[in-house]
Amino acid sequence: MNQPAMQGLDQSTPSYVKNAKLIAWVADMAALCKPDSVYWCDGSDAEYQRLCQQLVDAGTFIKLNQAKRPNSYLAWSDPSDVARVEDRTFICSAKKEDAGPTNNWMAPADMRATLQPLFDGCMRGRTMYVVPFSMGPLGSPIAHIGIELSDSPYVAVNMKIMTRMGKAVFDVLGVNGEFVPCLHTVGAPLAAGQKDVKWPSNKTKYIVHYPETREIWSYGSGYGGNALLGKKCFALRIASNMGRDEGWLAEHMLILGVTTPRGKKYHVAAAFPSACGKTNFSMLVPPAGLDGWKVTTIGDDIAWIKPGADGKLYAINPEAGYFGVAPGTNLLTNPNCMRSLDRDTIFTNVALTDDGDVWWEGMEQDNPDHALPAHLIDWQGRDWTPQIAKENGENGKLRAAAHPNSRFTVAATNNPALDSAWDDPKGVAIDAFIFGGRRSTTVPLVTEARNWVEGVYMAATMGSETTAAATGKAGVVRRDPFAMLPFTGYNMSDYFQHWLTLGEKLAASGATLPRIYTTNWFRKGADGKFVWPGYGENMRVLKWMVDRIEGKGQGSEHITGISPRYEDLTWTGLDFSAEQFDTVTSMDKAAWLNELELHTELFTQLAHHLPKELGQTKEALEKRLAA
Ligand code: GTP
Ligand code: SPV
Ligand code: MN
Repeated sequence: MNQPAMQGLDQSTPSYVKNAKLIAWVADMAALCKPDSVYWCDGSDAEYQRLCQQLVDAGTFIKLNQAKRPNSYLAWSDPSDVARVEDRTFICSAKKEDAGPTNNWMAPADMRATLQPLFDGCMRGRTMYVVPFSMGPLGSPIAHIGIELSDSPYVAVNMKIMTRMGKAVFDVLGVNGEFVPCLHTVGAPLAAGQKDVKWPSNKTKYIVHYPETREIWSYGSGYGGNALLGKKCFALRIASNMGRDEGWLAEHMLILGVTTPRGKKYHVAAAFPSACGKTNFSMLVPPAGLDGWKVTTIGDDIAWIKPGADGKLYAINPEAGYFGVAPGTNLLTNPNCMRSLDRDTIFTNVALTDDGDVWWEGMEQDNPDHALPAHLIDWQGRDWTPQIAKENGENGKLRAAAHPNSRFTVAATNNPALDSAWDDPKGVAIDAFIFGGRRSTTVPLVTEARNWVEGVYMAATMGSETTAAATGKAGVVRRDPFAMLPFTGYNMSDYFQHWLTLGEKLAASGATLPRIYTTNWFRKGADGKFVWPGYGENMRVLKWMVDRIEGKGQGSEHITGISPRYEDLTWTGLDFSAEQFDTVTSMDKAAWLNELELHTELFTQLAHHLPKELGQTKEALEKRLAA
């Protein structure tokens, strides 16, 4: 049976939609994609409930035990559609050099010619949902509007949580307002009488951006950043282009507030690559021994940062929800996150328990005896028991019940640590930036850059081991400048220049620039295990940064910057020896010589438009290393 159009709903353009360009675009796209019906989302709770029920009826959603996990659902995707597809992501600028060597590129006309036949009739047998959304507080001068057209009701309900979605957007848009058109299809039209599958998608995938005309076309995937187009496609790839043109920053950064025991509050924005701890850090609970410190969340993934008239940098979170990594999350690693997920959550690709609740790897840490569940249905709908997991595991590991990139979608307002300013259209003034990769070796726990240029250098040359957040091989070190490798929507060297220019401008206005730090929570010991306890204990590093900002924190200078000595961190409540500290902070000369060769390789790749300051900083580093 064909997916039924939503019954009893007006499918013509609602009378409150007045934007002529929008009305024409929707008509054009409907003519191209040929959906059976067009449905304009109003963003109401009633609509959300209706769409969720429709997803349950279609078999895409399992409604979880209402007593254990109220108002929550579980979706299992097609096993071939589980993560962002970086090799299928394109920046189609007019000139290839404007996309730069780190992006896939095709000429806009060629890409349009490629996509036209794919999109022709792509929504047959389905409903086209018109999803109006605002990135940032509705009507705020820093917010931007997008309209996503999608044939996936899963996308519509996720967008309701992840963005400010609904009817009110049309009031802001008015007759002439600007919006970013975002066209999305799962690429699975239904022939008359053809039965739908639970997770429609297509083997062929295209995630396409036209930066000059600010358009997004996404084909073939229903998962995460491939399909929720407000997130990476708009808020990073398109917005980074807007930011370059208009003098602001769109970054892959969490934003947090940190309040000292004396009641002074600072704001930190931190860029860690995908699945490297942003959500965790943004909800951090300070450990025993650092009583009186408090961390509050403004955002967990994306920051839009604009210079204010006072020369400070103000950051907002353009999103309204979290699409976070489930595995590893538990009451010890991230209690605030666990409490956020108590209700009103969409889970994707985690395991189902026999009593209709969810489970993922790491949740056993919540039990005193760390017991695994006796039986689960895994993310592919198969029986899972510890025995089955053992028999089917690889490299001595149990077969995972939840996909390593399984995620939850939940509204920011569910977070008990939500900052009171999270929705403030003015944003919060940033005191420090952190850049943190996932490195088993070489890079120390924390380093402060001596100045803005050195900080930009450190961010630009950051390396990180790849994770399950994107398809491809996990665990390989690659350069991930600013944690933006898959997200900078233009030439990476121009992006470095943009950061340098902004720093120069702010400095010229007499402002104090935010300090820049690099962190690495992921150094491993000889046993292959993480040495640094991480999570809440990262507060010790954050405290050192605040101490530095307040002029109290001590440290010692080395080749890449300033790091704390053992005695410069507060250890109350944690048993962590000077030897262990040495394991996570030591700088190995041979490893750094090798590391610098990788910087050289990166700079060779990015030679076109590479700011000369970065080459000069590298030379200074090489001299210090040789000395
Ligand atoms: P994206 O949503 O993909 O951008 O990722 P993210 O940066 O928000 O990552 P998230 O906070 O969800 O963490 C992903 C993984 O890193 C989880 O498996 C965590 O358990 C693990 N992790 C987070 N913080 C730490 C830490 O301090 N130490 C260690 N060892 N692991 C951590
Ligand atoms: C990331 O991969 O950095 C994410 C998840 O935040 S996704 O939205 O799928 O891109
Ligand atoms: Mn992310």
